[in-house]
Amino acid sequence: MSTDRRDGVNRGLAPRTYGQGERPPRGDYARARQDFTCEQRWQDYTPAEHALYERLYARQLAQLQGLACPEFIDAVEQLGSPTHIPRLDTVSSRLERTSGWRLVGAPGLIPEEAFFALLAQRRFPVTDWMRRPEEFDYVVEPDIFHDLFGHVPLLFNPTFADYMQAYGMGGLKAARLGACELLARLYWYTVEFGLINTPAGLRAYGAGLLSSAGELHHAIVDPAPQRLAFQLERLMRTRYRIDRYQASYFVIDSFQQLFEATALDFAPLYERVRSLPALEADSILPDERHYAAARRCLSTSVITPG
Ligand SMILES: [Fe+2]
Repeated sequence: MSTDRRDGVNRGLAPRTYGQGERPPRGDYARARQDFTCEQRWQDYTPAEHALYERLYARQLAQLQGLACPEFIDAVEQLGSPTHIPRLDTVSSRLERTSGWRLVGAPGLIPEEAFFALLAQRRFPVTDWMRRPEEFDYVVEPDIFHDLFGHVPLLFNPTFADYMQAYGMGGLKAARLGACELLARLYWYTVEFGLINTPAGLRAYGAGLLSSAGELHHAIVDPAPQRLAFQLERLMRTRYRIDRYQASYFVIDSFQQLFEATALDFAPLYERVRSLPALEADSILPDERHYAAARRCLSTSVITPG
């Protein structure tokens, strides 16, 4: 997401993005529509790109047991064959039948208001380009693997799907209230890096974790980061870093809790948060409820590719 182009209309140029970088966002914005969506051009993927997707998929799939939430594990096969980059239309058909969401192609990061507007219409923008082989372990911007593997399985969960739409609608309001930075923290600490407490222990549901080679394990098992019970005001006060593993994660009890907590009118909350000092990502406050790191369950069960 970016902060310029407040009207959220594509004019053929890449948006400015958050964070430091040496180059503009990747992607061909000239071919995107006014709402920043574009055709996937599936036929243009090379055999090497399909093979890279297959390697990324296999690596992440092997990590999921004991670290990913069961809703994600149950739905990941909905992406279809792991041997090639999926066609968005095919996945969309399955998704629409389950939760009423559709996937749309995007040239890359898109401005906030355009992004919120798509979510509010239950349309999820998926970057259509694949990272380069040398970016196998880390890619700065979200590519098609991150967007599909990380985000799409949970869109099959009806409650989480409703939360995503509510987030988009809240984003349109936040843009009018000048509160996008605060709302972006909610997206970061839930949709991208959220943890959930399950009967089997802590698990990840955030796409940034589930599509990451190393942070998934760090978030669940490593004793270093703090894992705080989800508390909206605390979360919105907490800055985040995009260039390292997170120092703090927020733990929900259920997707229903997340949906209900964010169904409120955020205007008074934004006012309150603005009146308080922001907190650094690693801030430790007294009397907060923490979760301990999970002990990795060395299950012998294997998830088979769909
Ligand atoms: Fe993402």
